[in-house]
Order: sequence, then structure tokens, then C-alpha cells
Amino acid sequence: MEKRPKRIGILTAGGDCPGLNAAIRGVGKTAIVEHGMEVIGFVSGYTGLIHKEYTMLEESKLSGILTLGGTILGTSREKPFKNDLNNDDINKPELIVNNYRELGLDCLVCIGGNGTMKTAARLTDMGLNVVGIPKTIDNDVWGTEITFGFDSAIAIATEAIDRLHTTANSHQRAMVIEVMGHSAGWIALYAGMAGGGDVILIPEIDYNIRSVCKKVEKRFAEKKPYSIVVVAEGIKVPSSKTAGSYICECISEYTGVEARETRLGYIQRGGSPTTMDRILATRYGSYAVEIIAEGKYGKMVAMKDGHLTTIPLNEVENKLNLVSTDHPLVKMCRNMGVSFGDEY
Ligand code: F6P
Repeated sequence: MEKRPKRIGILTAGGDCPGLNAAIRGVGKTAIVEHGMEVIGFVSGYTGLIHKEYTMLEESKLSGILTLGGTILGTSREKPFKNDLNNDDINKPELIVNNYRELGLDCLVCIGGNGTMKTAARLTDMGLNVVGIPKTIDNDVWGTEITFGFDSAIAIATEAIDRLHTTANSHQRAMVIEVMGHSAGWIALYAGMAGGGDVILIPEIDYNIRSVCKKVEKRFAEKKPYSIVVVAEGIKVPSSKTAGSYICECISEYTGVEARETRLGYIQRGGSPTTMDRILATRYGSYAVEIIAEGKYGKMVAMKDGHLTTIPLNEVENKLNLVSTDHPLVKMCRNMGVSFGDEY
């Protein structure tokens, strides 16, 4: 019979997002209070694991962090399995395995997005016990219906769009707002729907700039005083431009309508998590420890049909959760006259 896990490590890797501390707290408190485990927090993602930089997470350190944005452990985009030409004498995977063994870890919890899960899968291949927890504002991790961080990001993006309506109305302008999402359009779609966007451009649907301009002109012809154009950062644009600036320039140049651009940027990733993200991150964290206690490793916790479940880490890697072109929200938006730039 396998021995009961007594000591686990935890790290947060990749871009930060609201809810990371709630997840750390969910893991830590469940591990300590329910299972009497010790919890080690690695500093700055995989960097801390490579360099053996860590802090003991006693229960007292987990109090008061639920509502905090960012991550108390710090994060980095370190990819230990990627060749590092400046440091080719250092074998990072080997250092990680040695540190894991020296610290007497029974399992490592990796909280992150796609890159983090890929590394977690490789560490599993090297014989470590690993459990992944999906996070990202982009909501693009394959194998789960939702990642924490997404709800907070769309709440912020929606509030920003709300604020653009009034100034757009006053000046009778087209307001272009660029939101994050990497190569997925989830933030643009959800915030675009919630914020009443007239045009929503996402990487999954090829747009035609003439179609976008026609929509803006049509609205003005119909005496609608302004237009809101929500643009995902990942749409195709000429390489010298950002998504929002390109669309804004085109509207200014090809229509008679004055256009302005807003790039929301890192505001989407900062600050306190929403209620739903606190709950989701806590559930993922606590559930991760339950599966560790059952001796189940090499898995990512996930949401399927609204229920907590797991998926093997090696099934998650190299895949993305993208918006399908016939997603119900896309269809509903279209039925209400929203343009995705692919009409006409
Ligand atoms: O993956 C989250 C994300 O915020 C993306 O939406 C964005 O493209 C990227 O990270 C920004 O990365 P960085 O923090 O490296 O600038």
C-alpha cells in the first residue's frame, strides 16, 4: 500500500490572475487542517523549484489572503524543459527532481495555465507525483469548462466597456476596446455580450475590415449616436500594429466616424477576485488535496458539466480551449444584431 502523503509542495506559474491566493489557501488549509500535511510554497513558479527557494506555509500564513489579488508566492514564466542557451550547463529538470526528493515531497501542486500544465506533465513523466490546478484570465485551458481568473477579468472588462458608453455617446464616437485573451476570444465574447458591444472580434472568427466599418457606418446612418467595438488581442492584424490600434485606425480612415482606442491591459489581471473566482479557486484547491489524499497523481483538476473532476495531465498538453464558431453566445449575439466582422 502507498504511504499516506505527508508533505506537499505548491507553486504558481505563468501570468498571474485574481484567485491564485484563494487557491493556495484552499490547498494549504485542506492539507493542514483536514489531512495533517505539511505544505511548502515555492517562490516564483518553477524558478523556486529549480533553485530550492521556498517558504513553509503554516496555517497562519494562509489567513487573510483569500481576497488578495496576485500571488503571495510570486510567479514566473520559467519553462524548465526549454533549452536555455545561456545556461546550458544547468540541467533544470534534474535539479527539480533532486530538490523534490531532498525536500521529501510526496506531491507537487502546480497552479497555472497551458504552459504550466505541460511542464507538470513532463515532471510526471520523470516520476514525480504532480497535480495541476487550471488558472488563467484567458479561460483557454483544455479539459476544463472554466479556469479561475476569468470571471474577475470579464467583470473588469465589462465595467470598462460600461464606462466607454457614456463618453462614446457624448462625443458620438466609435470606441474600440482591446481586451486580453492570448489566442482565445473568451474575454472579448463574454465582456462584449455583458457590455453591449456592437462589434465583437475574436481570433476564432475571421473578420473582414469592410464588414466592421459597414456596421459602424450603418449604426450612424440609423441615428445610433455611437458604437462599441470589442476586440480580442489575438485577432489577426498587420505585425506592426496592436489589435485595437489597427481596428481603430481603419474605422477612422474608412468611415466618417471619429474613433478612439482603449487598451485595457494588465488591469484585467490585477486586484481582488470576484465572488465566483474565490469560490472556484477554493474548490479547485481543496479538491486537489482530496485527490492527493487518495493517491491520485498526474492529473489536473477540472470542471465538467458543473462538477469537479480530473483529467490526465498528458491529455491537456498542447491543446487549447477556444470559442467554437457556433458557441451559443455567438449565436445569441448574432441574433441580436451584433457583428463578428464576418457578415456581408
Ligand atoms: O495568459 C494571460 C495573459 O494575460 C494573456 O491574456 C496575455 O496575452 C499575456 O498573459 C500577457 O503576458 P505577460 O504577463 O508575459 O505580459
